[in-house]
Amino acid sequence: MDSDDLTILKIGGSVITDKSTPLKANIKAITRIAREIRRAQQEREEMRLIIIHGGGSFGHYVARRYLDPEGYLGVKGCCETALWMQRLNSIIVEKLNLNGLWALSFSPHSFMVARGEENGYGMYIDPIVRAIEHGAIPVLYGDVVADDKGFRIVSGDILAWELSELLGARSVLFATNVDGVFDRDPSSGHGTLLKEVGVRDLRGNIDLSKPNTIDVTGGMKIKILSGFRALSHGAVGFIFNGSIKDNVYRALMGDRSFGTVITY
Ligand code: IPE
Repeated sequence: MDSDDLTILKIGGSVITDKSTPLKANIKAITRIAREIRRAQQEREEMRLIIIHGGGSFGHYVARRYLDPEGYLGVKGCCETALWMQRLNSIIVEKLNLNGLWALSFSPHSFMVARGEENGYGMYIDPIVRAIEHGAIPVLYGDVVADDKGFRIVSGDILAWELSELLGARSVLFATNVDGVFDRDPSSGHGTLLKEVGVRDLRGNIDLSKPNTIDVTGGMKIKILSGFRALSHGAVGFIFNGSIKDNVYRALMGDRSFGTVITY
């Protein structure tokens, strides 16, 4: 597979679910994004794509009720979280297919394990590689993952960076519900959107700790810092507002005039 043409698109849970209503998908947004991806695919035939989506008011809402202080879910919490994430995933995969995208679902808990803080994850990625080679678009999601002690959560952001490293994808796009990375919390009304952030230069004056009450996987700061290794190996990230019409299309077409580019 020629990884130069491989793009990883992570769609934030806040874009595709209604974060104020538990277990409610935002069908309008999902359909709009499916059409935008289709349009980009028609214009960039060489593009190969992996789509990863977040948990929003599905995964975060359910997992939050079970997580213990060490970040373990217990078996009941694991299965319930996995079940609701699968439901959200099947809605998304259906909408993608209805809009002419041959989207194929992959549940991360079935092909990966966590190996502890230092050692990352182990994954069997051959089925994903084959699916791409044969013209399908793998669709993964933030999910539960087992380690040697129990079940934890792996965010879609981590999956995006891990896959970019394993497959050599250079372009990792994050469609979120904010315009990009700000030098201060934008809800203060004083933040300035940064055009580019180098993961090495993350300094104290950049306030990345945007509070979010139901986000169990850490928000903007973790999103960027977890890309450290992939970025050091040549991946380039782009964080943008996927809730605004046409932004997903523009990002897939290589437009970087909005949002924040993340480099090493
Ligand atoms: C979370 O994935 C998955 C679960 C809670 C099971 P993400 O962390 O990628 O989700 P969003 O994009 O923040 O909603």
